[in-house]
Amino acid sequence: MKKILVTSALPYANGPLHIGHIAGAYLPADIYTRYNKQKGNNVIHIGGTDEHGIAVTIKAEQENTTPKSIVDRYHKEIAEDFKRLKIDFDNFSRTSKDIHKEMSQDFFLRIYNKGLIEKREGEQLYCPHCKRFLADRYVEGECPYCHYENARGDQCEACGKWLEPTMLINPRCKICGTTPVVKKTYHWYFRLDKMQEQLEGWLDKKTTWKSNVKSFTKGWFKEGLRARAITRDIEWGVPVPLDEADGKVLYVWFDAPIGYISSTKEWAQKQGKPDLWKEYWYDKETKLVHFIGKDNIVFHAIVWPAMLMAYNDGIILPSEIPANEFLNIETKKISTSRNWAIWVHDFLDDFPADYLRYYLAANAPENSDMDFTWKDFQAKVNGELADILGNLVNRTYVFTKKYFGGVIPAPGDFDEDDKKIVKIIEDAPAEIGKLLDEFHVRQATFRLMNLAREGNRYFDYKKPWNLIKNDREKCGTTLYILSNLLNTIATLFAPILPDGMETVKKALHNDDFTWETASKFIIKPGTAFDNPGILYKKVEDKTIEKEEAKLMDDNKNKVEEKTENKDKPSYVTIDDVLKLGLKVAEVLEAEKVEKTDKLLKMKIKIGDEERQIIAGIAKEYTPEEMIGKKIVVVSNMKPAKIRGIESNGMLLAASNEDHLTLLTIDREIESGSSIK
Ligand code: 2FM
Ligand code: ZN
Repeated sequence: MKKILVTSALPYANGPLHIGHIAGAYLPADIYTRYNKQKGNNVIHIGGTDEHGIAVTIKAEQENTTPKSIVDRYHKEIAEDFKRLKIDFDNFSRTSKDIHKEMSQDFFLRIYNKGLIEKREGEQLYCPHCKRFLADRYVEGECPYCHYENARGDQCEACGKWLEPTMLINPRCKICGTTPVVKKTYHWYFRLDKMQEQLEGWLDKKTTWKSNVKSFTKGWFKEGLRARAITRDIEWGVPVPLDEADGKVLYVWFDAPIGYISSTKEWAQKQGKPDLWKEYWYDKETKLVHFIGKDNIVFHAIVWPAMLMAYNDGIILPSEIPANEFLNIETKKISTSRNWAIWVHDFLDDFPADYLRYYLAANAPENSDMDFTWKDFQAKVNGELADILGNLVNRTYVFTKKYFGGVIPAPGDFDEDDKKIVKIIEDAPAEIGKLLDEFHVRQATFRLMNLAREGNRYFDYKKPWNLIKNDREKCGTTLYILSNLLNTIATLFAPILPDGMETVKKALHNDDFTWETASKFIIKPGTAFDNPGILYKKVEDKTIEKEEAKLMDDNKNKVEEKTENKDKPSYVTIDDVLKLGLKVAEVLEAEKVEKTDKLLKMKIKIGDEERQIIAGIAKEYTPEEMIGKKIVVVSNMKPAKIRGIESNGMLLAASNEDHLTLLTIDREIESGSSIK
């Protein structure tokens, strides 16, 4: 039997899940997996948390704790959120595990040995204040493509482009705000440029892939793929497995997707069949399906397949990458920093899992961004889940109970109306199945709710409350057909609404969820129909008002915090002073800048570092008297060109209209000493 390997993007273990995460990758992945399990396919859903990278280390720095304690905490919270939302995984691993480290290092080495990873010297941004290289999210600035102001060093949130920190316009250190300097360092680069032809050929054949994935990759190819650094100068991550790379780790986007394999390997070990993972990853017939949000497209449709191609030991490539667009909330983009988000755990404290699953399935952002609004949520739950589906279940039960003692009646002959429902039941599994096979969850949800609509229409038309008076057999036929329609709906809706549909199946004493049986009349006359209770309770206005107020309040608090800070009088904190990087410098060389009477060009020494600065002091100081002086400089000054000559720092001097004097050092102290 064909194997299906489903993965959903490994969420960063740096915070809890919000509903945007769920709509993007996890709900569609879970629905697809549940559906395939019901079809009897050999399918596994593999996941885990992405525990490396700057997303994690920044959070640890903000909370003054270690990356390890951050990932331990959020791995647990995320796993719990998934469990409560009935998003099931066959294995939910962590990229901080040894099994993942080994697999990632093996990947690196194999690709390295093939010459597709190579060491190169390159320029990196370095924060002189924090004294470190600014990898990825440690630096922010203007996106060179779409000019969004707060693009991160590795990716622009606004246009999705994959960036290098040195590409940012006006970069700044995320931690201290300092303008970084460019320094040379070495890293290992993945030769994506060498993979372009192979990748393009492979992607060209994916004619049925979603247009968002296709158009994104086309854009990349047009620009031409470049070799990209896949190592970083940070302490948290998978160590680069080369002696000469001491202290460097793999870039998080190099190790994360390998997590799909290491998590499958862990799953196999847990089954007591350590090689079982290979039966999926090394079988050309396996359908490998990566569920992701659109911000992950470049990594899954270009970088990851290129890694697999470079690894090239018979390992399979992705078959499908159903990438969803974004979910907005009340028309605004989700932003965790502004607290414009609805957290899964908060949601589930107030509503059952099926409510969120239904809403997000009915509004799946498959082809465009979609909007979550509390009012629409209430309208969908009340008007569809409760009034259509819940009502059909309830009225079928109530009438069966009232007229037939709660036992499914035996049917008589079917008339034309009955036969229409029979046809609907017969056709539904294939029709819904096709939509789910092709990742059209929104349409499938709509069609499924339509089945319940048809049931209600049939109910209203047949009027069992009249039939019972003069044609008991016909009344029995109607309720028999309705009970079977309910069973069909419950089976086919189960991937989306696992809790409610289980209740219906239990009430009908049927635990056969297999897809094929949904086309048949398997609820036999004589079966007891138990009370399913109120399947979906309506959401009251006051509950929605509370939720709306909460969202606004949470957001307001954040916004107010920010505005408050902005409007404060101009006090500065010690951090602000430190941002300047005031340092003692020693003048090594000095000369007048030609054709000017004010400017001196100096070579200065700040600790071990030598720099060139230009200062307007030539009228007051000769080059000779400057040499050997200890002066005060702003070392974090943005590099500038003065008369075409680079100046990297600013010297401090006191001046009035007719006089200028340097700030010097009162007692002996070595250059590089901090001033604070
Ligand atoms: O965007 C994210 O949340 C990433 N942590 C997704 C990683 S997917 C995979 F490659 F692991
Ligand atoms: Zn951009």
